Amino acid sequence: MRVSGSLRVPGDKSISHRALMFGALAEGESRVTGILQSADVHSTAGVLRALGVEIPPLAADFTIRGAGRRGLTQPTSELDCGNSGTTTRLMAGVVAASPVRTTFVGDASLSKRPMRRIARPLEAMGARVLLPEHGGLPMTIHGGTLVDIDWRSEVASAQIKSAVLLAALVGKVRAHVTEPARSRDHTERMLQARGAHVHVDGTSVVIDPGDTLAALDTEVPGDPSSAAFFAALGALADDGELKLEHVCVNETRIGFLGKLRSMGALVREENRHLEGGEWVADLVVAPGLLRGTTVSAADVPAMIDELPLLACLATRAEGETVITGANELRLKESDRIAAVVSNLRAIGASADELADGMRIQGSDAPLRGRVITHGDHRLAMAFAILGAANGNEIEVDDPDCVGVSFPTFWDDLARARSA
Ligand code: S3P
Repeated sequence: MRVSGSLRVPGDKSISHRALMFGALAEGESRVTGILQSADVHSTAGVLRALGVEIPPLAADFTIRGAGRRGLTQPTSELDCGNSGTTTRLMAGVVAASPVRTTFVGDASLSKRPMRRIARPLEAMGARVLLPEHGGLPMTIHGGTLVDIDWRSEVASAQIKSAVLLAALVGKVRAHVTEPARSRDHTERMLQARGAHVHVDGTSVVIDPGDTLAALDTEVPGDPSSAAFFAALGALADDGELKLEHVCVNETRIGFLGKLRSMGALVREENRHLEGGEWVADLVVAPGLLRGTTVSAADVPAMIDELPLLACLATRAEGETVITGANELRLKESDRIAAVVSNLRAIGASADELADGMRIQGSDAPLRGRVITHGDHRLAMAFAILGAANGNEIEVDDPDCVGVSFPTFWDDLARARSA
C-alpha cells in the first residue's frame, strides 16, 4: 500500500462540544469555524436547544448567541445524548447548577456507561442526582444552589473534571479538582480564554467564581484522535508520505504520536503555532519498520482514545506490545479491552486480555476476517486501518458507526490510499 497527498481531518470533537457549550453560556455572540459536524456534536447542540439556547444548524461557520450562565430554561423533553459521554457528563455539570429538572437518556451503549463518577461530586456540591441501580442512564438531575467543592477524582478523566468545573462556573462557586494524572485540558484553556478564573497547577485545577463568561470566536483545529488513524496508515504503508494538515497538537492529546515514533514510524511536525489557546501543526507521516512497545498507566491519559488503534498497529510490529494501566478502556463506547482482543483473535492475530490492558504479538501473517464493532466508532476505524495494510482483508460489521466522530472517514481513507 502506498500513501500520498494531504488531508485535513475534521474538527476536534472535544473542542467542538466545548465551543457549543461555552458559546451558549457566554454573554454575546461567539463565532465558531471548523466545528466537527458529527453525531456526538449534534447531540450537544440538541441538548442545548432543548434547554432553550438558540443554536443554529451546525455549519462550517456559524454564530451562537449566548444565553448567559443563568439563561437555560426548563426543557419539555428528556435530554437525548445519543452515543455521547462528553455531552452527558459535561452538560450534567451545567444543569446541576441551573434551576431546572432534567433527565438524560442515550443509546444502549451510553446507557450502560458509569455516571456515579460525576453524580458523586455534583451531589457533594448540592445537586440531587437520581441514577438507576446499574449507575448508567437514565439520569435525572435536580439543579439548584451549589456550594464550594474540593474533589479528588480517582481517575484521570477530563469529563469528570469538566463536569465539576462547569457546575462551579454556572453555580458561581469555587471548585478545586485533583486528578491522579493530567487529563486533556481543553476546558481549562477555553474557559481561561473567555475570562473565567481558572488556575492550573500540575494535576490540580481551581476555578474561582467570576463575573460573566465572555463571548469568543473559536477556530476548531483538526482532531488528533482522528488524525491518529491516518498517522497509523502512513506508518503501515510500504511507501509514500501523508500530510495531515492543521491538527491540534495539545500535549495532553498526542501520546499516540510519541509512541508511533518510538515504534519506528517517521512523524514530523511542521508549521507549529498557537491558535486560540491551542497548539496546532501539520503532521507528516512516513512508514518505518515497526517494533513492539509498552504502554503503562502514566502514558494512558494522553492516548486513551488511540489505544485500540495502537493495539491494531502492534499486530504489524516486530515483537510484543504490552498495554497496562488502562482500566478506563473497559468503560468507553464498548469494553475496548475485550472487544479489541476478541476481534484481533477473530482475524488471526495473537492477543490476550489483561485485567487492565492487553498483550499483542506482532507478525507478518495476513489478517483476515470480520470485525464486530459493537457500534464503537473507534473500533471500526482502527480495524479499517489495519485492513488497509498489505495482505490483510478485514470487514467491519457496522461501517456507519464512524459518523459518531468522523463522518468522512471512509472517503478520506480511499483518497489517502493512492495505490
Ligand atoms: C473526552 C474525554 C475522554 C475521552 C473522550 C472525550 C472529553 O473521556 O475518552 O473521548 O472531551 O472530555 P474521559 O474523560 O472519560 O477519559
